[in-house]
Amino acid sequence: MNAAPGRAYDIRPLGELMGAEIEGLNLSEALNATTINEILDAFLDHHVLVFRNQNLTKDAQLAFTKYFGEPEDHVHRTPSGKILPPVHIVNNLDPSGKPTSKPYTTGNYHWHTDKSYHAVPSLATLLHAIELPPAGGDTLFANTRRGYETLPEETKQRIANFRVVHSWEASRRNTGNAPATEAEIRDRPPVTHPLVRTHPSTGKKTLYVGMHTSHIEGMPESESRALLDSLATHTTKPEFVYTHNWRAGDLVMWDNRCLLHRADANYDMDKHRRILYRTVIKGSLPF
Ligand code: OGA
Ligand code: MN
Repeated sequence: MNAAPGRAYDIRPLGELMGAEIEGLNLSEALNATTINEILDAFLDHHVLVFRNQNLTKDAQLAFTKYFGEPEDHVHRTPSGKILPPVHIVNNLDPSGKPTSKPYTTGNYHWHTDKSYHAVPSLATLLHAIELPPAGGDTLFANTRRGYETLPEETKQRIANFRVVHSWEASRRNTGNAPATEAEIRDRPPVTHPLVRTHPSTGKKTLYVGMHTSHIEGMPESESRALLDSLATHTTKPEFVYTHNWRAGDLVMWDNRCLLHRADANYDMDKHRRILYRTVIKGSLPF
């Protein structure tokens, strides 16, 4: 699709699987209702929107985020124990600001959907590139609707009513990060969600899995882990994945209700800084 008559920007699909790039919009400026509705339509059609050539301050990113819902708060603390502000920074820096392959969290390098350990998980996440490695440092997105639709019929029937426990504690364990603290566990007790989730806007079924999962309710742990892992492996096969190669100025906004995502450590993390502004939008109760 090119710029519609009377519209100053282009929305171009990045492929059949997902993704569209939007060029010619300045997200630092106030947007009118028509533009916001066009963005929302494109978001539901393409799941990942890439806004090119942006140069947003934190305040401007927060203002843009608020057009689409309420910004989330965060259980995760910085190494010095501070709560993350609504616009925070995804990075690979040590406390002195040097790049490292062992930043205080590497959770974002494992397949997940944001905040599925919340009773009401995230609708969308927005990342804005501030500093990028010369190459690599990609973000991968997997289409969990395709994952669901391509399951054998008998698997669909078997898993139709399964409920999955997600928790911050399990997430930290699954990713080999420092264990959740007592305070964090109190803040975010385990929650359960349907394994097969229905997207509230499109009505399409998706697989709701990823690194925040603990186990399937009422199923022995090893059987449960094997099933969750096999479903995650299935829906993250290359044929269901879009790889986002970041360009300077990109702001990427994605739908957590029908995608898994992860960062790719395909750059020299000890040498190059990778810094992005992040905001997250509250969603609704999965069903
Ligand atoms: C996130 C996330 C991936 C990346 O911000 O939620 O998972 O590429 N980021 O940094
Ligand atoms: Mn994430």
